[in-house]
Amino acid sequence: MNQNCYILGIESSCDDTAAAVINNGKVLSNVVATQQIHEEYGGIVPELASRAHQQNIVPVVHQALRIANIDKKDLKAIAFTRGPGLMGSLLVGASFSKSLAMGLSVPLIEVNHMQAHILAHFIIDEKQTQPNFPFIALTISGGHTQLVKVTNYFEMEVIGQTIDDAVGEAFDKSAKILGLPFPGGPLIDQYAQGGDPQAYTFTKPKVGPLDFSFSGLKTAVLYFVQRETAKDPDFVTKNLNSICASIQFTIVDYLIDKLKNAVQLTGIKEIAIGGGVSANSGVRKALKDAEEQLGWTVHIPKFEYCTDNAAMIAMVGELKYKQGMFTTNDVIASARMKF
Ligand code: KG4
Ligand code: ZN
Repeated sequence: MNQNCYILGIESSCDDTAAAVINNGKVLSNVVATQQIHEEYGGIVPELASRAHQQNIVPVVHQALRIANIDKKDLKAIAFTRGPGLMGSLLVGASFSKSLAMGLSVPLIEVNHMQAHILAHFIIDEKQTQPNFPFIALTISGGHTQLVKVTNYFEMEVIGQTIDDAVGEAFDKSAKILGLPFPGGPLIDQYAQGGDPQAYTFTKPKVGPLDFSFSGLKTAVLYFVQRETAKDPDFVTKNLNSICASIQFTIVDYLIDKLKNAVQLTGIKEIAIGGGVSANSGVRKALKDAEEQLGWTVHIPKFEYCTDNAAMIAMVGELKYKQGMFTTNDVIASARMKF
C-alpha cells in the first residue's frame, strides 16, 4: 500500500479562492469560495477579487484540512498557482503558500494554472477517465481558450489559442447584450434548449487553423440585436430561445472545427476537455457525436474539476512532489506565466 502523501493545493488566480488536499491521486477535500461580489458589476473587478482572496484564504484552507481530516503538520508539501492570472489575486495565494511552507518546513511547489486544468484529468475518481498520452487538450473557460498537445505530464505544447476573448467571455458578453445577468454562459445554454439553432446565422471568425477569435462574434451579436430591436423593441424577449440556440450553435461548431483541425494536423484522436464551458450541453453533445462519428476518444472531467479549483493544483503538486520539482522561496507570482 502507498504511504500517505498529503499535498495541499491553493488556487487564487482569478475570482475563486480554493484549497484542496490530495493523497496519492485521490481528492480528500476540494473547497472553493466563489466571489459573488462581481455579479453586480457584470464582470470580474481585479481589485475586489484580491481583497476577497485576503478575506477567504485562511478559512478556506482551514476547511480543506478539516474536511480531509488531517492536521497541517501531516502535509508533505504546499502547491500553489503561480500564474497565469490576475496579479493581485495570485499574490495572495503565493504569499500565503510561501509563509505556510516556511512555517511547516515543507517544500513549496509552483503550479501553472493552465497545466493544472489539463492534469486535472489524472485525479483518480470513479466519475472520470484518464487520457492516454499523447492527447489534445482543449481548455475552455471564462479566462482561457487553448489547444495543447500533451505528450507527457510536463511535456506540453500550446498549438492554438484565442487571439482576443476567451470562449466563456463570448458566452457571457453575448448574454449581457441580451440583458441576462453575469455569468450568462449557463443561461444561454438553458434558453438554447427550447430554440432553433439555425434561426439566425453569425459568421465564424477567420484566424489560423488552430487559433480562436471571439471578439467579432460579440460585435455581430450586438449589431444584430440593435438592428432587430429597432424594428421590434420586443425582439429579444420574443425570440430569446432561438437567439441563444443560434449563438451557442455558432460557438460550439467553431470549437469542433478547431478540434477537427487539431486532430488532422497531429493525427491524435484522444481529446481531453477542461474549463467551465465544458459544462455546456451543446459542447457535450457535439463531442459525443464526434466520438461516435469520427472515432475520437473524449475525456471530460467531473464538473468540480473543470471549473477553477484547487484539487487540480494539488494534483500537479503531487506529480511534481514525486519528481522532486520544488520551488525556492524567492519565487514571484507571474500574471503571464507560460508553460
Ligand atoms: O472555469 P470557469 O469556472 O472559470 C474561469 O473562467 O476560469 O469558467 C467560467 C466560464 C464562464 O464564462 C461561464 O459563463 C462559462 O464558464 N460557463 C458556461 C456554462 N457553464 C459555465 N458557458 C456556456 N454554457 C454553460 N453551461
Ligand atoms: Zn481556469
